[in-house]
Amino acid sequence: MKEFKGKTAFITGGAEGIGFYVARTLAGQGMRVMLADIDTGMLEKAVRTLKGEGFKVEGVVCDVALKADVAAAAEETVRKFGKVHFVMNNAGVAVTGSQKNISEADWRWVIDVNLMGVVHGVQVFAPLMKSQGEGGHIMNVASIAGIHGVSFSGPYCATKAAVISLSECWRNELAKDGIAVSVLCPGFVKSRIYDSMRNRQARYGGPVHFEDEVKAKPSRAYNKELVVTGIDTQAAADRVLEALKEDEFFIFTHPHFRELHQMRVDKMVEGFDKADASPALANVPRTGVILT
Ligand SMILES: NC(=O)c1ccc[n+]([C@@H]2O[C@H](COP(=O)([O-])OP(=O)(O)OC[C@H]3O[C@@H](n4cnc5c(N)ncnc54)[C@H](O)[C@@H]3O)[C@@H](O)[C@H]2O)c1
Repeated sequence: MKEFKGKTAFITGGAEGIGFYVARTLAGQGMRVMLADIDTGMLEKAVRTLKGEGFKVEGVVCDVALKADVAAAAEETVRKFGKVHFVMNNAGVAVTGSQKNISEADWRWVIDVNLMGVVHGVQVFAPLMKSQGEGGHIMNVASIAGIHGVSFSGPYCATKAAVISLSECWRNELAKDGIAVSVLCPGFVKSRIYDSMRNRQARYGGPVHFEDEVKAKPSRAYNKELVVTGIDTQAAADRVLEALKEDEFFIFTHPHFRELHQMRVDKMVEGFDKADASPALANVPRTGVILT
């Protein structure tokens, strides 16, 4: 994106954390910002704060797991600001546990918010941006945990890997409509992601507060430790702005995590080498279409 002034950003999960800081940063560039969030109290506070700083910001209550909510939020954004030029599918939640003990309801919750929330954002906003005829940019928020699986974080890692993959799929699909796609893969950033269950919808089991989780399972305290010692949220937002200006596709906040990616690539190369040397494949031609 080269022009920010007077354009409109729509940010899910914008009431706090990374979404809020990106909202403030983009508003600082002259953008009008719609914050969409499930947490009514934090949303009101965020809108009040940013309006108090002189920014053109509005809020809309929205559960990204519900496509109808995202569609209604888009309509509200058009009503308030006319057009939408940047969408950040940022709302995300995490659950911790082994494959044995994560409930089906929690699997559904994380899939519906982290994966379907992103799908809904694209299904609603890509046609809108196309109809406006001015192009646009959709940024999906994954995680470094989507690059490399992390023990005891199955639903989180799986959904974040899916968001990276979808972003790759959509990048070419949407380019013909002048819509750029990017994927943000942060490492630990100061936020309340460790306390995601505060916003778990009733249909998945309802909210649980972090203090109560720690009382039930003291080792959960480590998750908070990892996040609160992460990088400053403003630094992550500044990185997002840099990346937007340069139209970067993969956006990272923790360059030293390159090692994780390298480990994965090395393992994959080893797998390809094994296949190359495989007697079972000795007579199979190394040809065929490679799709991108
Ligand atoms: N903070 C980190 O260390 C970190 C690392 C990697 C990726 N991320 C990703 O960054 C994104 C933002 O997370 P954060 O760290 O700012 O966490 P956060 O918990 O501080 O903020 C998340 C926001 O999303 C909102 N939200 C939750 N469920 C929602 C729903 N169903 N519909 C709409 N809004 C909903 C919350 O109310 C909150 O305002 C997430 O996708 C997260 O997975 C965060």
